[in-house]
Amino acid sequence: MAVIALNSPKGGVAKTTLAILLASECAFKGHSVALLDADPNQHAALFGERSTVPGLDFQGQITDQNVIQSIRQTSKTYDLVFLDLPGATTTLNLKALQLSDYVILPCQTSRPDVRDAMRGIQQIAEAGDLKGLPEDETIPYSILWTRIPFSFESKAARSIREAIAKTGARTMGSVLHERAVYKEMHINSEVPRQIDPNSAATREVSTLADELLENLYKLKETVDAA
Ligand SMILES: Nc1ncnc2c1ncn2[C@@H]1O[C@H](COP(=O)(O)OP(=O)(O)O)[C@@H](O)[C@H]1O
Ligand SMILES: [Mg+2]
Repeated sequence: MAVIALNSPKGGVAKTTLAILLASECAFKGHSVALLDADPNQHAALFGERSTVPGLDFQGQITDQNVIQSIRQTSKTYDLVFLDLPGATTTLNLKALQLSDYVILPCQTSRPDVRDAMRGIQQIAEAGDLKGLPEDETIPYSILWTRIPFSFESKAARSIREAIAKTGARTMGSVLHERAVYKEMHINSEVPRQIDPNSAATREVSTLADELLENLYKLKETVDAA
């Protein structure tokens, strides 16, 4: 069992897109999965109304009032619980982060986005503090580079990626490219695997989900060994 939050103080960085893609792909890989939509826009919940991915249930209307109970309840019955959080620093985000086993911090490769990601890391540190973690421990998280264009990586983007690598902030090796199919999936509530199982997008999402599952597995090994 693991609770995975998609969190960033910024909107438009692909939190909802990733929540839908990763939750669906983990379900296709055989896990029982819940996706809790805590964003007032309810785009993930709307997607869920017509989604037919076996093993994946969507729950909408997650609010500051019910978020703790909803996470506790779903994590009793599902292998994996994904949290699609609002692009904000509300108490809802803080509560959800404290109950998360792993946080994915999606970030685009521009300076303002990286500044927001740093605020996101701060937010994760504060949630860890409130949870009573020792000073040298944080809730496990990774930055995930998103919406990467297929054109040559600009000098600015490369320098940002290198600068972040030097800070020691944890970063996932896989990235999410900018692809039309990630927008089009909302038309019929179908993820790339349902549209074309052999497409590059399907492979990209599968690789991302494998990296996430491996990270969760390693975390569990560390916890079990402690
Ligand atoms: N990798 C991507 N490729 C193409 N469009 C994307 C990608 N990621 C997000 N989008 C689009 O950008 C908009 C914002 O994405 P969304 O996942 O809702 O961001 P957030 O939840 O962080 O606010 C949506 O219209 C979505 O379809
Ligand atoms: Mg969103």
